[in-house]
Amino acid sequence: MDKAMHWTDGHSATDAAQHTPSDDELLALEAEYCSHGDTVHYTNPAKIFTGCDGSFMYDSRGREYLDLQMWYSAVNFGYRNERLNNAVKRQLDTLPQVASQYLHREKIELATLIARDAEHKFGLKGRVHFNVGGSQAIEDSLKLVRNFKNGKSLMFAFEGGYHGRTLGASSITSSYRYRRRYGHFGDRAQFIPFPYHFRGPKGMTKEEYGHHCVQQFARLFESEYYGLWDPKAGQCEYAAFYVEPLQGTGGYVLPPMNFFSELKKVLDQHGVLLVVDEIQMGIYRTGKLWSIEHFGVTPDVIVFGKAITNGLNPLSGLWAREELINPQTFPVGSTHSTFNANPMGTGVALEVMRMTSETDYETMVRESGAYFLEGLRELQQRHKCIGDVDGLGLALRMEICEPHDSFTPSKRITDLMVDEALKGDLEIDGRKYGLVLDIGGYYKNVVTFAPNLHISRAEIDLAMRLLDQVLHRATAQ
Ligand SMILES: Cc1ncc(COP(=O)(O)O)c(C=O)c1O
Repeated sequence: MDKAMHWTDGHSATDAAQHTPSDDELLALEAEYCSHGDTVHYTNPAKIFTGCDGSFMYDSRGREYLDLQMWYSAVNFGYRNERLNNAVKRQLDTLPQVASQYLHREKIELATLIARDAEHKFGLKGRVHFNVGGSQAIEDSLKLVRNFKNGKSLMFAFEGGYHGRTLGASSITSSYRYRRRYGHFGDRAQFIPFPYHFRGPKGMTKEEYGHHCVQQFARLFESEYYGLWDPKAGQCEYAAFYVEPLQGTGGYVLPPMNFFSELKKVLDQHGVLLVVDEIQMGIYRTGKLWSIEHFGVTPDVIVFGKAITNGLNPLSGLWAREELINPQTFPVGSTHSTFNANPMGTGVALEVMRMTSETDYETMVRESGAYFLEGLRELQQRHKCIGDVDGLGLALRMEICEPHDSFTPSKRITDLMVDEALKGDLEIDGRKYGLVLDIGGYYKNVVTFAPNLHISRAEIDLAMRLLDQVLHRATAQ
């Protein structure tokens, strides 16, 4: 008999609610009743987790999985972080719901903290605008930019960039795969090469390659015949450049330090706005509130989501400088939505901002990141399939290649690593573990690490021993 039927057939809703379905029953129900369009089944069978704490996830057997991706960097401060969970509980007991046409203290204080921080760092007054979900905040930023630029709808974005899967966000995301079935609802971005040095032309230093990429971009403005610049009007056909300071889904690619300052000069010269997508790399993932702070440039717009609530609420939003977002230019109701600035989200995000201002995350993340990277470098010396390792703070990468040249991308070995990691049968000192890994990269061959920012040295040591086993198993097959 069909497993899904076995669970529900002949039971009242109450009986069914009292029965705890097994993993197999749940998978059968998922196969029958859940859309697969809203998920990605990276493993077969898909993994079901039942608990989490700190840096670990647990399955129904009680097996521990050291999580090195923390929900794509949404849970930067650890699972079930006590201080942040308490903020949620407090909010639940005071003002959990309020219609978004009314105001609440948490929204106003959170916006103030973010705007004052930006004013201090960038010397610019600005305002904060909320929504739910990263892609929706990207959509809002598109409206903001198009409105400010009198309806100009064309954007630049990077090859390898990812900004979400709503219609607008996928039009500025480089992969055609995310657009292929749905037709065009707006103009797709012009995609510009990102300085991905490991796979760039040989014979250039990282900085030289960064400079070269900017020069290639600047060339587009040298003549009207290159298609986007009207020298007589001094106008560019494109409104803004959407960037991730470190590419997230693209494989945690770290640009050279000179890149963004040189790029920004070209943008300023031609009146193109800089929109920085901090949805994945923001909130101290790289050791700064915003990862763009490492690169010494001033953004026009910053978009955030994920870890602003430690993954406890889908709150997202954007900061923009006053000229773009003042209420005369971007009036009430421009993007209003029921759940934006919801008090559960703003309450916990406010606590995140307070917590990060009271603790020296900058030093902590830099030091833990250096220790983690050192561990990856040691692994690289022992495993020929590791072509490249790199990192900034606790955003780290390990590029998996064919062992014969340590360069040809190996999606095969990378996939095997993820499968082996999730089996939960790795063994350290007589104890069984699993690992939660994530894959990114232009060739789907990069293990992208976004561990708990509170990860201990002992947990990093454990991570390296588990990775060592996973690498051995994957390369032996
Ligand atoms: C850089 C970046 N932008 C945008 C998004 C989209 O955010 P969401 O998945 O919350 O819609 C993501 C999600 O991974 C992201 O990493």
